[in-house]
Amino acid sequence: MKRINTAVIPAAGLGTRFLPATKAQPKEMLPLVDKPAIQHVVEEAVHAGLRDILIITGRGKRAIEDHFDRSFELEHYLEKAGKFEMLKEMQAIAEMANIHYVRQGEPRGLGHAVAVARQHVGDEPFAVMLGDDIMTGRSTVLSDMVTLHERYGRSVLALKEFPRNEISSYGCALVEAVDDSLVRVLDVVEKPKPEDAPSNLAVMGRYIFTPEIFDCLEQVQPGAGGEIQLTDAIALLLQQQTIYGYVFEEGRYDIGDKLDYLRATVELAIEREDLGPKFRTFLADLVQRKKLI
Ligand code: UTP
Repeated sequence: MKRINTAVIPAAGLGTRFLPATKAQPKEMLPLVDKPAIQHVVEEAVHAGLRDILIITGRGKRAIEDHFDRSFELEHYLEKAGKFEMLKEMQAIAEMANIHYVRQGEPRGLGHAVAVARQHVGDEPFAVMLGDDIMTGRSTVLSDMVTLHERYGRSVLALKEFPRNEISSYGCALVEAVDDSLVRVLDVVEKPKPEDAPSNLAVMGRYIFTPEIFDCLEQVQPGAGGEIQLTDAIALLLQQQTIYGYVFEEGRYDIGDKLDYLRATVELAIEREDLGPKFRTFLADLVQRKKLI
């Protein structure tokens, strides 16, 4: 069985749901407390044993490359100021993985962003992690998906239950149960109307793909707005190979959505040893003062 080494992180989208903050900075660089969202994603990949990272970037995304690069001026300053802990932390960011970049050119949809990874990935299975989907610290979703791929040798999609009225924002999967949190995917549809949704399981931003997904992506016809949908390629892959789903419950936030961004920030802040206790007190006080409950 081929081991998975590579995580592809699409981060070339325009982030229109988070304007104006994303007018001149990538949404993947929005901080969750003090760490940019995409650093959380890279750390999660490294934690699951994936050290070859390919970030799909585009216009206006240079801050991402700078973030994962060494900053000699800053390091020099921190050293001189005797801030050695911080210095070590800054150096570690540049050294935690082998990070490569490829530009998407035009943001022609998530499917297109994954397709431009083909040359780098080659004929190997790989993970896709959306640069604006965050899993909180304790999540083992990606590691569990890697283990499932190692057992079955097939693609695996992360799935999460949503209320019917929210399912139309996501790719939706029709499944049959295999065991506990493992299902077999029978069909996928992109953003169905609630009444047409085949289930209440939405496809989340973590995937393991066999390399055959690339041929499927080439066959997909652009949909509305010239976008190439990853979901359409998954539907084609399903015609030739079994695809599994891994159903999980908690700990995922779409930080490209303002409300989810706020939720993620609060959850991560209360878990922090340094900030958590004071922030919890503040929240409890706020709930009382504003009569929230
Ligand atoms: P989204 O649909 O959430 O990203 O794509 P978006 O298009 O930036 O968002 P809005 O709707 O305009 O606010 C999910 C992930 O796929 C990447 C995005 O950067 C995001 O991490 N993506 C999307 C690409 O890399 N290229 C694309 O053409 C589209």
